[in-house]
Amino acid sequence: METHKELTIGLFGFGVVGEGLYKVLQLTPSLKARLKKVCIKNPLKKRNAPASLFTTNKDELLYDPEINVIVEVIDDADAAFHIVSTALQNGKDVVSASKKMIAEHLPALLHLQQQTDRSLLYESAACASIPVIRNLEEYYDNDLLHSIKAIVNGSTNFILTKMFEEGLDFKQALIMAQQLGFAESNPKLDVEGYDAVNKWTFLLTHAYGIVESPENILFNGIQNLQAGDSIVAKEKSHQIKLVAQAQKLQNGKVAAFVLPQFVKPNDHLAFVKNEYNGVVIESGFADKQFFYGKGAGSLPTASAVLSDISALRYQYKYEYKKLYHHRPHELATDVFLRVYVSFDDLAYIPKDRFEWLEEWHAQEERKYLVGVIAFSELKENNWWKENNTSLILTPDPVIEDVELRKLKKKSLELAGII
Ligand SMILES: NC(=O)c1ccc[n+]([C@@H]2O[C@H](COP(=O)([O-])OP(=O)(O)OC[C@H]3O[C@@H](n4cnc5c(N)ncnc54)[C@H](OP(=O)(O)O)[C@@H]3O)[C@@H](O)[C@H]2O)c1
Repeated sequence: METHKELTIGLFGFGVVGEGLYKVLQLTPSLKARLKKVCIKNPLKKRNAPASLFTTNKDELLYDPEINVIVEVIDDADAAFHIVSTALQNGKDVVSASKKMIAEHLPALLHLQQQTDRSLLYESAACASIPVIRNLEEYYDNDLLHSIKAIVNGSTNFILTKMFEEGLDFKQALIMAQQLGFAESNPKLDVEGYDAVNKWTFLLTHAYGIVESPENILFNGIQNLQAGDSIVAKEKSHQIKLVAQAQKLQNGKVAAFVLPQFVKPNDHLAFVKNEYNGVVIESGFADKQFFYGKGAGSLPTASAVLSDISALRYQYKYEYKKLYHHRPHELATDVFLRVYVSFDDLAYIPKDRFEWLEEWHAQEERKYLVGVIAFSELKENNWWKENNTSLILTPDPVIEDVELRKLKKKSLELAGII
């Protein structure tokens, strides 16, 4: 007996993802999803699809009673929010890839889903082809998620791979990423960490029930990294990656941030190169699990959009279990991080604000230190992003019981052991 819902789709956007979806839908006739209309911005652009499919009038899709699914894959977050909220209010289910829009409007989107009882799915917005949201929702539907650590931005990972492993300079690597369709039209979004923190915002909701705006999460991109940092990384046999991390603390809160991090060769994330993304989830009984796949690109992203469309046939909705069915977690601010900081001039570094220093290298042209610093110091100040200063987290950077460790260190110092 056929119980699946018939899907008639209105698609917004026919760029990298939209055209990819068009191709993928044609190759998946078994889905029985009919693409009725595509809304684009520029009517003069040449398209690889019949002209009769296209319109620039969004209402032809949003107010067509036959269209029951809106797929929104445009590159304008404000217009995307308008499209998605109107579609939900008009009783349509929605699939979106617009991470910036989702991150910036998450509370309103949560409210709209409850109010309209419609489904809003956005798997492709997180790690493109990796099904991380649905796994966090369905498989890790419990309170035992110790940590989630991920490379969520294919573009910066591509640039770091080309720079640190293949010797390209930053500009060459960025242009290559853009040419291959791995970078957003505005590279600042990728390079300065905005894209990664946007994704981390809603992944935190699915992992821990945390609803925060992106600007409340500690983050930076790769724009401050220096050639000297890669020399230090190589000396330590580490790689440098832009890592998004969330870790449950003993006090039940969650430390979360998106920052460059040294990654050891035996870390699963060291395996993630070029435009690929990777997610390492550590849970109570299963220990570590590693998800790996393409984090950008036309067909890989379209495949996740397709999977969301397919899930709508059986009325799948995110239940936001960690938010509505468990006690949501809070973001921690009272935690410490072990950091590497390289700099041109010590005058720019407030070294008395470190809890303690573990390494100090002043003789080379580019100086650096390794020390432990309060999370709140980084959250509230910008010195670590200015004046050519570069901050990279060390592997396993989260330090909880700092007072106890300080006392132990002091007693060892007094005993003359260190
Ligand atoms: N590319 C990736 O690998 C990837 C991966 C995951 C998520 N995403 C997300 O997916 C979305 C689309 O990305 P993309 O790479 O496909 O972008 P893109 O190649 O720049 O294409 C954007 C499309 O949106 C259309 N558009 C813009 N404003 C519109 C409006 N107001 N109404 C109707 N159409 C409008 C454009 O129309 P014209 O063609 O007429 O200019 C174009 O077809 C973005 O939110 C992006 O963050 C992308």
